[in-house]
Amino acid sequence: MVIPPFRNESYIDPSDPGVREKMRSAIEALRSESKEYDLMVGGEPISTEKRILSRNPANPEEIVGRVSSANMGIVDKALNCAYKAFESWSMLPAYERVKPFLRAAEIMRQKRFELDATMILEVGKSWIEADADLAEAIDFLEFYSREALRYDEPQPVVQVPGEYNLLRYIPLGVGAVIPPWNFPCAIMVGMTTAAAVSGNCVLLKPASDSPVIAAKFVQILKEAGLPDGVVNFIPGSGGEIGDYIVENPAIRFVSFTGSKEVGLRINELAARHHVGQKWIKRVVLEMGGKDCVVVDESADLEAASNGAVASAFGFQGQKCSAGSRIIVVEDVYEKMVAMIKEKTEKLTVGDTTDPDNYMGPVINENAMKRILGYIDKGKSEGRLLTGGKRLDGTGFFIEPTVFFDVPPDAVIAQEEIFGPVTAVIKAKDFEDAMRIANGTEYGLTGSLYSKNRHRIERAKAIFHVGNLYFNRKCTGALVGVQPFGGFNMSGTDSKAGGRDYLLLFLQGKSISEKI
Ligand code: NAD
Ligand code: ALA
Repeated sequence: MVIPPFRNESYIDPSDPGVREKMRSAIEALRSESKEYDLMVGGEPISTEKRILSRNPANPEEIVGRVSSANMGIVDKALNCAYKAFESWSMLPAYERVKPFLRAAEIMRQKRFELDATMILEVGKSWIEADADLAEAIDFLEFYSREALRYDEPQPVVQVPGEYNLLRYIPLGVGAVIPPWNFPCAIMVGMTTAAAVSGNCVLLKPASDSPVIAAKFVQILKEAGLPDGVVNFIPGSGGEIGDYIVENPAIRFVSFTGSKEVGLRINELAARHHVGQKWIKRVVLEMGGKDCVVVDESADLEAASNGAVASAFGFQGQKCSAGSRIIVVEDVYEKMVAMIKEKTEKLTVGDTTDPDNYMGPVINENAMKRILGYIDKGKSEGRLLTGGKRLDGTGFFIEPTVFFDVPPDAVIAQEEIFGPVTAVIKAKDFEDAMRIANGTEYGLTGSLYSKNRHRIERAKAIFHVGNLYFNRKCTGALVGVQPFGGFNMSGTDSKAGGRDYLLLFLQGKSISEKI
């Protein structure tokens, strides 16, 4: 099998009339197709009476899907099926295991508009955000397949006379994959693929706000020929089956991406040893962020204000990488504040079935209330520059909101808001800006706009984030190009889309034979 070198997938152009026609037809088709989605355990669909209702956040009356919901008995059945599949799947050479994943990438390209449309309706992504999510998912399938082949090759060890020595990577076993809703395709596909292409079998529990796109991916894996039981699809509420999965002694690893609160709970529960459990569970946790864009007096302010606004409001600020703080040195503070205001007020907000809307709704009613609570708090902590209100209607739309003159220790400058709200903070100078940037419990992404080479080099040393950018926005890491993961309370720095990632799902077996 000859596989060409990895290249990132390109994006659609929403201004192209042909693209517009195809996306509109895909949205219409999705609206008229069956809304029922089953679980998948051991390759068999299972329908349950209890359903998760996936709603369109732009119009919560619209049901995007009714998805069967697993209980503990179904989790047990999925574990049995996964163990049975593991016997043969774990023994296959990597060049066999990668085939269904590479086929799945091809099918996803063919179904591009259907999958984009699903994210537009299910989580309110704009066309370009939905397509970037899909492209990243395809990248993960392609990239991790190549990585699986690389880890299957003989690994470099020192040979000594009279022995033949080798190091082989083998899979861990059966694990849980628990992704978030905000990159409902990319992160869900990436986490599942990494674990399974390495030879493990998986229980995939998608987020309850985005089970439909996950159900479609599981169907695609089946169509691509993935053996039954390798990926078992068990949507269900975190509260109901989450602890049962995480604490289960049969689970060998937990791969989680989501909030700090849930991640820390999983870390604690997974650390406990239970009767019959033969291992210490491997836990991979990628969590929240309080990311920032820093601007010094040497920066190109046009580029900096564009980058800061895109970082803050892309996908309504619902990215772990979102620039929810803009830290500006005092020499250019007034000017930057005015530019940020002007650019923010040009953003269009509305139903993202219309490609001309830059921002859509936030994910659900609880999120909307939480974000509006932070906006209220912001009014007493800083000065409202623009935005601050919910839009009229039933959809969960919130104006892009900017506070300025926010103290670095304010709640809105410390806690992850996960919505279209950003805080502009004044710094005395570059060193003060770096102190403020590092002054939260997180450490995921950060960006510095500066033309000063000395400061760029200094920031490389002291700006404590897992993903550091210069003179560009702090969102939008590309698979293979900017391996992604954060420091401190942002998680275990797993570096998704990087060369170390698959090792998290493998264990090394050192083999020595006397000759
Ligand atoms: P969340 O923590 O609410 O949920 C994440 C997943 O955990 C979901 O599948 C959910 O159903 C599940 N879950 C909830 N309770 C559980 C429990 N008790 N046991 C097991 N599973 C449980 O997060 P979310 O709202 O889906 O996502 C937003 C969060 O994710 C933000 O904090 C964001 O910063 C973070 N995130 C981080 C990264 C990263 O790479 N660092 C990427 C995307 C999102
Ligand atoms: N990987 C996503 C980004 O970089 C979260 O924005």
